[in-house]
Amino acid sequence: MKPELGVCYYPEHWPETMWAEDAAHMVETGLTWVRIGEFAWSRMEPQPGDLQFEWLDRAIETLGSAGLKIVLGTPTATPPRWMLDKHPDMLAVDQRGNTRKFGSRRHYCFSHQGYVDECTRIAVIMGERYGENPHVAAWQIDNEYGCHDTTVSYSTPALQAFRHWLAAQYATIDTLNEAWGNVFWSMEYRDFEEIDLPNQTVTEPNPAHVLAFRRFSSQQVVTFNKAQVDALRPLTDAPLLHNYMGRTLDFDHFKVGADLDIATWDSYPIGFLSDRLEGGEAHKIAFLQQGDPDMQAFHHDLYRAVGRGRWWVMEQQPGPVNWAPYNPAPLPGMVRLWSLEAVAHGAEVVSYFRWRQAPFAQEQMHTGLLTSNNRPAPGLAEAQQVADDLVRLGEVQQVQAKVAILFDYASDWAWSTQPQGASFDYFRLVFSAYRALRRAGLSVDFVSTNENSAHYALILAPGLATIDPDLEHRLAKSCDLAILGPRSGAITHDFQIPNSGRPGLCKLDCDVDLVESLPSTSERAVHGGGAARHWIDRLSGQAEDLLSFEDGTSALKAGDGIWYLAGFPDETLWDRVIAMAAKKTGLDLQKTPQGLRLRETANHVFLINYNAEPAVWNGHTVQGCDVEILKRDPSEPT
Ligand code: GAL
Repeated sequence: MKPELGVCYYPEHWPETMWAEDAAHMVETGLTWVRIGEFAWSRMEPQPGDLQFEWLDRAIETLGSAGLKIVLGTPTATPPRWMLDKHPDMLAVDQRGNTRKFGSRRHYCFSHQGYVDECTRIAVIMGERYGENPHVAAWQIDNEYGCHDTTVSYSTPALQAFRHWLAAQYATIDTLNEAWGNVFWSMEYRDFEEIDLPNQTVTEPNPAHVLAFRRFSSQQVVTFNKAQVDALRPLTDAPLLHNYMGRTLDFDHFKVGADLDIATWDSYPIGFLSDRLEGGEAHKIAFLQQGDPDMQAFHHDLYRAVGRGRWWVMEQQPGPVNWAPYNPAPLPGMVRLWSLEAVAHGAEVVSYFRWRQAPFAQEQMHTGLLTSNNRPAPGLAEAQQVADDLVRLGEVQQVQAKVAILFDYASDWAWSTQPQGASFDYFRLVFSAYRALRRAGLSVDFVSTNENSAHYALILAPGLATIDPDLEHRLAKSCDLAILGPRSGAITHDFQIPNSGRPGLCKLDCDVDLVESLPSTSERAVHGGGAARHWIDRLSGQAEDLLSFEDGTSALKAGDGIWYLAGFPDETLWDRVIAMAAKKTGLDLQKTPQGLRLRETANHVFLINYNAEPAVWNGHTVQGCDVEILKRDPSEPT
């Protein structure tokens, strides 16, 4: 596969006289894809039924005839103002019961059938008009599901749909009462119609109720997306995709992805560092203008799994953004580094957001490849350099990694429902495992709980809330060694403590006697180095102790093909556990210096240096904010 570059463009923001010149300039920069249309509903249909597509016909023709392939977005993330007159109850309602208003974007509730039908209608109109247009080479459905906290809505349509969903899941109200443990605090219902949404209760609602609502809310996103997939499929052969986000776990991306052809995501490394990542001050200062060295790769690898191997970066940060608490500029070289890193992880396309900075409205402080008055911004030259790099690079072929992380969105819903410790967070735990694998120089795959085809030397499944017997069986078959814990197999599907001990541990003579959470300032030391933080499972049983805490309790227990980790490891403990697992499974580790990361493909080794200073690995010096690409012989084992 030969990776390509693209850009996000808003023809409706610029006079038509600029389009042809813009298109020629994109081509000259080395871009081959352009995404348009995803917010333009008020221009496509200014009044209900008044279809105005001629401008879009001309935009597509201008861009396409310049040689660009078009990703056409359905505009359903931005319903025009008139839509509210037609469907006054289509707005989402927040947890406090406030109706969200018109005046920005994503002002809809996934459960509003009238709005879903409007989306299907506009998708069919667009599909009929452009489905066979030779310039339209892919379709983006909606934009960033879940952005601005929009997955969950406490609206009346959501309530009605939730009751139906519950009736279908549980069949009888007695079954539901039993499954949720509603005898507790006399919460028993007599009918599905009595069940409310789990907000505005006096104190914590039943976690089983919350988890069911989170599952339902995720399913509403899947169903919403599927309606447009079904509308477009018969009208086009072009691939359908969606642009997901970073650290957004509110819906099951694997399930949305199953209906699409390609997963794409929006990568804003510097925004993420300050906006959505834990980390010490020193770390945040060291990478202030580069972004965290593992955050992008984590999502590249995750979305490669969501896209079943096919994935892109749909929006790549090109300079300072507008939405993080602070918005420093990337150091010179970083826009190129991020782009090449995506390619190393298998991106088919890296597309910059956006072509030209908007001089108006909410994102006027967000840079583009061009300034708002049409001069080159610093990102442009780097994009051009990447285009040259890609010509030299040629084909990039992915190989299956030897290690994988089992990733499960529902575990995040469970642990955010009952964190039990303020600093326990599913993403944080999984990300710490990912970082440890990368410090050891390993390339990593992600697998979902439904995945069962590939075989790995090692699979990590930290914090996996529910392990049913089927998953337990598949996990055992799909790797030489699985490491569970902490907090794995700890609840049933209905948020109860499993009666028969922890599933997943039955191959180990081991159970969990009690659990503890610790404040961020505390830790529990492990003999020989490292410590557990945030969370401890107190383990008992005859299984061998590979590591123990200084107080004598077990930190890591081992059985046949399965280990259980008792606490949330700090870096030193993770490094020890990975080294032990590597020894057990014959994995070759290639320790990397701070901020330098490796990614192996079939034909290359990418050395990616997020540091501002040069870093050395295995005799190779990589300059600061630079990428060194070593060729490897595809016949060599990875
Ligand atoms: C993304 C979004 C874009 C734009 C961008 C700004 O979340 O998809 O439309 O808002 O962020 O960084």
